[in-house]
Amino acid sequence: MQRIPEPEELMDDPAQALAYARADFTEANSLFVELVERQSDDGLHGLLLDLGCGPADIPILLAHRHAGLQIDAVDGATAMLDLARQNIARDHVAGERIRLKCDYLPCPDLERNGYTHVVSNSLLHHLADPMVMWDTVLHCAAPGASVVVMDLARPHSVVAVEALVESYALSEAEVLRRDFRNSLLAAYTVEEVREQLEAAELGGLDVQMVSDRHLAIIGRVS
Ligand SMILES: C[S@@+](CC[C@H](N)C(=O)[O-])C[C@H]1O[C@@H](n2cnc3c(N)ncnc32)[C@H](O)[C@@H]1O
Repeated sequence: MQRIPEPEELMDDPAQALAYARADFTEANSLFVELVERQSDDGLHGLLLDLGCGPADIPILLAHRHAGLQIDAVDGATAMLDLARQNIARDHVAGERIRLKCDYLPCPDLERNGYTHVVSNSLLHHLADPMVMWDTVLHCAAPGASVVVMDLARPHSVVAVEALVESYALSEAEVLRRDFRNSLLAAYTVEEVREQLEAAELGGLDVQMVSDRHLAIIGRVS
C-alpha cells in the first residue's frame, strides 16, 4: 500500500493537540520507555534529547525513573508545547530536569554532538522528508550515544489499517480515530526505514517490529 503523507506535519491545532494529550498512550509509552532503558544497563544518565515530544508524557516518565537524566524536549508546535508546559508545571520532581524547546526540525541550532541519548516516539511518520530525522540524530548524538526511535509501521492494506483502528481506537473520539488512521497511512515500513538508514550512513542501527503496529530503530552511533 502506498504511503499517504500526513495532512500537516505539526500538531498545532489546539483541539487536535488537546485530544492527543488526553488520550491514553500508556501501553505504547511503556513499550518505548522499556526500549530506551534496555539500551543502558546501568540506568540512564546525562543529556537526553526527545524529538517531537508532544505533551511531554515520555520526558516526564523518564525523568521520574532516572534521577541522573537531564532532558531537552523539542517540538515545533506551540499548541502542543503549551500542553507540555502545563504538564511539566504540575510535576515538581520531573519538571525541573526537563527543558522545553520550540524548534521546527531540521534545526541547526540544536547542540551538535551534545546528547548521550537521542530518542523519538511517533514523529518519523509526520516528517515529509524522513531524512530530517536521521540528519538530526547525526547532528545531535554524541559519539557512542544511544538512539531509540519508535513509530507506527504502515500496514499492507487499507483493510489492515481499518482493523487496527477498530482494535485500538474503537471507543476513542472521532478526531483521534482520524489521526490514528492518518498516522498508519503515513507511516514508513521496516524496509523503507532500512533504506533511509543506509542513505544516512546509519546502517549500524537495527530496525525491527516491536509490536503488531510499531517498529523501532535501536542502537548506538559510532
Ligand atoms: C504524534 S506526536 C508524538 C508526541 C510524543 N512524542 C508522544 O509520543 O506522545 C508528534 C509530534 O511531533 C511534532 N512534529 C511533527 N513534525 C515536526 C517537525 N518537523 N519538527 C518538530 N516537531 C514536529 C508534532 O507537532 C507532534 O507534537
